[in-house]
Amino acid sequence: MALKGKNILVGVTGSIAAYKAAILVRCLVKEGASVRVVMTAAAKEFITPLTMATLAKNPIYVEFFNPENGDWHSHVSLGEWADCFVIAPATANTLAKMAYGIADNLLLTTYLSARCPVMVAPAMDLDMYSHPTTGENLAKLASVGVAIVEPEEGELASGLSGKGRMAEPEYITEQISKLLDGAEKKTLNGRRFIVTAGATIEPIDPVRYITNHSTGKMGYAIAEELASRGAEVTLISGRTALPTPKGVERVDVLSAEEMYEAVKARWEGCDGGVMCAAVADYTPAEVSPVKVKKSEGDMAIRLRRTPDIAASLGAVKGDRLLIGFALETDHEEENAQGKLERKNFDLVVLNSLRDKGAGFGGDTNKVTFVTRDGMESFPLEQKSDVARRIAAFADSFFKKF
Ligand code: C5P
Repeated sequence: MALKGKNILVGVTGSIAAYKAAILVRCLVKEGASVRVVMTAAAKEFITPLTMATLAKNPIYVEFFNPENGDWHSHVSLGEWADCFVIAPATANTLAKMAYGIADNLLLTTYLSARCPVMVAPAMDLDMYSHPTTGENLAKLASVGVAIVEPEEGELASGLSGKGRMAEPEYITEQISKLLDGAEKKTLNGRRFIVTAGATIEPIDPVRYITNHSTGKMGYAIAEELASRGAEVTLISGRTALPTPKGVERVDVLSAEEMYEAVKARWEGCDGGVMCAAVADYTPAEVSPVKVKKSEGDMAIRLRRTPDIAASLGAVKGDRLLIGFALETDHEEENAQGKLERKNFDLVVLNSLRDKGAGFGGDTNKVTFVTRDGMESFPLEQKSDVARRIAAFADSFFKKF
C-alpha cells in the first residue's frame, strides 16, 4: 500500500456515519500513515474528539485557535502537512460549502488552502443524495479534481433504505491508497509540452517526395509518458502509422515548413519542448505542380535549407525546458555537444547508428544524455524506458525552479 509514512488528514462532519470515521482512522494508522483529524463542531455531537484523538494518536483540530492557551491552528499548515485530505463522512451541507468556497470553519478553510489531493465520502439520506443540488455540487467538486467515493445502497439512519450510506472505511482506505499512488506519478501536472515526432515529407512533385526512416516510436513514447505524468502534451507529428497516445493532442503535419509553423504557433505558453522528429534539413527548392517526366540523361533537384525548428525555439527559450535528439553515425559526442550549444538545448539525447538496436524503427534504443554538466550513457533498453528517463529529467528540471 502507498500509505506507509504518508500524512493523511481526515475531516469529519456532522453525520451519524461519523462513527465510521473512527474505524477509518484506525485503518489508516494500521497501514502506517500518520493521521490528524479536523472536525466540524457538528461532528463532535456524533463522535467525541477524545475517541478520534486516541485512535489518531494526535490531537484533534476543531477551532481556529485553542481557547485555553490561544494557540493558532493554521489551516495553511494543516493543508501543507497533508499528503491527502479525506473528508469522511461528508454531509450535504459541507459538500455544498466546499463547492461554493464557503469557509466558515477550520475544515473548510483547510480544504480551500490544501494543495494535496482531496477525497470526499458523502453520507446522507437517500433523498438528500438524489437531490439535483447535491448532484450539481458533487459534479462541481469533481470538476476541480476532488475524488468522490460514492456512497453505498442500504439501510439508512432515517429508517429508509437507498443510496446514501457512507462507503466502508476499508474501501475508503483502499481508494486513498490508489489516489496517492496516482498522485505520485503526476509530477508534471499543469505543465505544457510540445513534442515533435516522426519523419517529415518534402514533396518533389505530386507523386514523389524526400523523407527518412523515422517511424515516430520514440517521440510517441515520450508524449505518452509526459501525459501519464499529468502534462498537457501537443504532439506535432510527421507521417507515422502509430495510434495517438492516450490523453495527447495530436497535430498532423507533412513538411518541415508545416512542422515549423505548427510548433512556432504553440511555443508560447509551453513549459517545455521535446524535439524528437527527424526533420528534413533540405527540401526541393521548386515543387513541380505536375509529375516530373523522365528524360534521357541524369537529373538534379535543387534543394534549399528548411528552418531549424529546435534552434528557433532555443533562441527564445528563456527558462523553459528544451530537449533535442542527435542521431549520429560518427563523432557522436562532439556532434551532440555542438547541438547542445547551437540549439540551446538543456539535454541532448544522443543515439548512434553504430549501436545495435538503437535508432529508427525498433522498440529499443541505446542513448547517452548530454548536458552542460556532463554525459551519462545507458544500456540498450525499451523506448518506453528511455521515455521514462527523459520524463524524469523533466521532473528534476522543473524542481529546480
Ligand atoms: O542538426 P540535427 O538535425 O542533427 O539536430 C537534431 C535535433 O534538432 C533533433 O532534436 C531534431 O528534432 C531537431 N531539428 C529540428 N528542425 C530541423 C532539424 C532538426 O527541430 N530542421
